[in-house]
Amino acid sequence: MIQATTNTRKQTGSFAADVLTGLSRTPKTLHSKYFYDDRGSQLFEQIMELPEYYPTRSEAWILENHKEKLLDIMQPHHWNLVDLGAGDAAKTRILIDAFYRGGLDFQYVPADISSYALDDLAGRLQKEFLDLPVRPVPGDYYHALSWIGQHVKGRKFVLFLGSNIGNFSEAETIQFLNKIHQTLQSGDRLLIGFDLKKEGSIIHAAYNDSAGVTEAFNKNLLLRINRDLGGNFDPDTFDFHAHYDPISGFVRSYLTSKVGQEIRIESLDQTFRFEEWEAIHTENSRKFSLSDIERLAAQSGFRVEKNLFDSKKWFVDSIWRVQD
Ligand code: AVJ
Repeated sequence: MIQATTNTRKQTGSFAADVLTGLSRTPKTLHSKYFYDDRGSQLFEQIMELPEYYPTRSEAWILENHKEKLLDIMQPHHWNLVDLGAGDAAKTRILIDAFYRGGLDFQYVPADISSYALDDLAGRLQKEFLDLPVRPVPGDYYHALSWIGQHVKGRKFVLFLGSNIGNFSEAETIQFLNKIHQTLQSGDRLLIGFDLKKEGSIIHAAYNDSAGVTEAFNKNLLLRINRDLGGNFDPDTFDFHAHYDPISGFVRSYLTSKVGQEIRIESLDQTFRFEEWEAIHTENSRKFSLSDIERLAAQSGFRVEKNLFDSKKWFVDSIWRVQD
């Protein structure tokens, strides 16, 4: 049973405005949330299959090995299982399957910025779990959370998997966690995935893969600007690399211009000058310590109820409870 919701996106306008702001600034930046057009979502699905990209497998292992524990926490109540940034829900499916077969009374509420990914997901779930209520919510995190706060009643168990939180700066992280807290009520839960600090070479390889899929994923943003905003980027004139800083925990990804050049973006009516080797900062993929996690929970009105680890302690799914 699929209930359609209104599309809350106002993508193109903010994409143009954010590209203008980002490329006018020093250093130049583009926001990684714009990676996920239909092509970008496909490329990210390929990244998750890469041998070097461990976070997806670590988290799948956690969910597989702790799903019964989660079911125990949730029984016997009715829940709205909210999945922020559901994508193809490959990992959430582990929980949906366990909850569905365990007879839990729940509705699945996937939210994603890509309506392509969302439609595809809803269709496939409907075939597999015949009488599971599915209520897709298109839009970015903030629009989706506002919509859910207004329209989805009852207990909420919010999933924010995959260490997507790592894309945010510290200030954006606190703001985002506060937004989730405002959407929830006492007794509601947030299960949030954090990629943990670990040996630098493992992290480095995950973001500089040998097949070049991560590079294509970053360069797709330039192609998206060409497509959607009439840009004339030649991705071959940019070099890609990602760098891990073990002190801050931030992996920062960059596209650097191999040549001095001017890029024209028609719909912005602007030309952007790149000096030779000038960088565009394209993404943060932050790694966390356990004390970072405790602090973030406390600062945003939550209490850490349980930490679920994989066998190597590379990743944690942290279950947070709204403080009464
Ligand atoms: C989906 C944001 C968790 O930062 O690890 C993967 C995206 N970027 N490879 C991450 C990504 C490069 C991913 N997140």
